[in-house]
Amino acid sequence: MSLNVADISAATKSALAAIAASSDLNELKTVKIEHLGDKSALSKASQALGKVAAEEKAQFGKIVGAAKAEVSAAFEAKLQSLETERDARVLSEERVDVTLPSTIPSVGGLHPLTILTNEISDLFIGLGYRVAEGPELEAEWLNFDALNIPADHPARTMQDTFFIEPLDSKLVLRTHTSPVQIRTMLENKPPIYVICPGRTYRADELDATHTPVFSQVEGLVIDRGITMADLKGTLDYFAQSIFGPDVKTRLRPSFFPFTEPSAEVDFFFNGRWIEWGGCGMVNPKVLEVCGIDTTEFSGFAFGMGLERTLMVRHGITDMHDIVEGDLRFTRSFGIGGR
Ligand code: DAH
Repeated sequence: MSLNVADISAATKSALAAIAASSDLNELKTVKIEHLGDKSALSKASQALGKVAAEEKAQFGKIVGAAKAEVSAAFEAKLQSLETERDARVLSEERVDVTLPSTIPSVGGLHPLTILTNEISDLFIGLGYRVAEGPELEAEWLNFDALNIPADHPARTMQDTFFIEPLDSKLVLRTHTSPVQIRTMLENKPPIYVICPGRTYRADELDATHTPVFSQVEGLVIDRGITMADLKGTLDYFAQSIFGPDVKTRLRPSFFPFTEPSAEVDFFFNGRWIEWGGCGMVNPKVLEVCGIDTTEFSGFAFGMGLERTLMVRHGITDMHDIVEGDLRFTRSFGIGGR
């Protein structure tokens, strides 16, 4: 291109007009390539400066420089205004109306039985106990034999066991949490302080006071010099923590194959004695099965139903409420979703 002032001025004008006419950032980008890019008229004018006669160079240099500066400034100004416009548009288009009505998802909550289980676990952890667990599908030997309940013992049928087929699998749905005692003693050396909450099964019909799937909590202590006084003190503390500071407990003589002596534990609540569970000093036969030296160690155990504990504490009169999973029941405990 040969350099002349009229061409430079025309190129400048058309660049300014194109910039002014750009209505969005994409368009402006194309305009930039066309009017300020390497192949634009103004860039070519810059390149042509090299061939201009020496005495005219300074003059043309100024004109081309001024033209490019003017177009660049116009471009920058337009770029800024289009960006500002875009930002404002994005802000308004993407605005979220936080006042719109919405559906709030309902969140889950813990079942009252789980809450009670956690409460009891926390209580005993505070006394230095560990929480022990065992399987619900249990070896018949651990559920019965090791607990001194032989095959022909009436307690075995009394418990209305769910036996698992094939029968020679020797598996049952555990009828109580007591097999966790055996598991704990086989796996750990005394001193032992454990609490074992868990689900248990018996072939009962579901009615207002029974359910075939229920829960128990088992306590087991094995140490040197443990006596029934320790058992009684522990049960008092347990009962008072769960039912209130003034609650009393009493022991009534009873029989369980795995404890000797054995007792039923009752507690006095709202003006009457209520049966709570079984307890006793761990039968030396059971300690021996687990390889514990009975000349050095003795222990106590107790076991109670959690549904019953919950029903008494909260005045629940129908077991159906506990097992049916109706949220209105759970919510009345002040926990769980809406
Ligand atoms: N396992 C007994 C039952 O389910 C309850 C029980 C009684 C547990 C006495 C014990 C105990 O640990 O010492 O009927």
